[in-house]
Amino acid sequence: MLRVERVYKRFGGVTAVRNCSLDVEAGSITGLIGPNGAGKTTLFNVIAGRYKPDSGRVFFKDEAIDGLSPHQIFQRRLYRTFQITREFSQMTVLENLMIMPAGQLGETIWNTWLRPGAVRSQENEIKQRALAVLDFVELADLQDTYAGSLSGGQKKLLEIARSLMAEPEMVLLDEPGAGVNPTLMKKLVDNIRRLRDERGITFLLIEHNMDLIMELCNPIIVMSEGTKLAQGPPEAIRGNEKVLEAYLGGQYR
Ligand SMILES: Nc1ncnc2c1ncn2[C@@H]1O[C@H](COP(=O)(O)OP(=O)(O)O)[C@@H](O)[C@H]1O
Ligand SMILES: [Mg+2]
Repeated sequence: MLRVERVYKRFGGVTAVRNCSLDVEAGSITGLIGPNGAGKTTLFNVIAGRYKPDSGRVFFKDEAIDGLSPHQIFQRRLYRTFQITREFSQMTVLENLMIMPAGQLGETIWNTWLRPGAVRSQENEIKQRALAVLDFVELADLQDTYAGSLSGGQKKLLEIARSLMAEPEMVLLDEPGAGVNPTLMKKLVDNIRRLRDERGITFLLIEHNMDLIMELCNPIIVMSEGTKLAQGPPEAIRGNEKVLEAYLGGQYR
């Protein structure tokens, strides 16, 4: 579904991503791990269109997407979750979802002016979809709560819920488990798995929590110093000497 081919991304003298190639299979929940500074977040940003690669290519469903804008990539149903920023904290959970769909009818003045009835009914449709999504991630009870007052884990669920409004085919998650308590972590894992099983959504996720990665992801891709070091099922990665070395090296360097 996603193919990264020999991608390089430099920042001044730092080569954050170096000759990196990897594939993500449709319908997989693929984990991306590696020591701090390995280039994981930079690679996400290249895939999602925030950065253009200096060289190399990115394909999504066999179509080149490197060089496209984040919005164009979003329209191809490849979606990257974003942290709930201050602006969104001041909106309710439901409002956070209602503003999500790109290019909804109500956004263009022409439609509002020409077809007010159509806009109203689409707003209603969006609300129904938002409520269904909130039901799915079990946040319906909190629909009128300000996003800013959610717990860390609930915010992560809301981030995922927002991505669902866009009906993605693939979702990139950067550290979904960060700051999430064990109860919500279980919910998060269940939700991601259900979305894959029931909606066929493909996931690529960066995570530091090894329990979460080992339980949820297959395969796991390991990045080190900007490139792919290893790939395999959890058991193989756990016992991989090169992987262990990369982590220890990163820690003591
Ligand atoms: N915007 C940036 N400007 C300069 N250097 C950056 C920038 N983003 C990342 N880097 C550098 O690129 C390397 C990889 O960073 P990053 O992709 O955040 O790694 P990871 O997410 O694996 O921890 C690091 O050395 C980091 O300091
Ligand atoms: Mg990172």
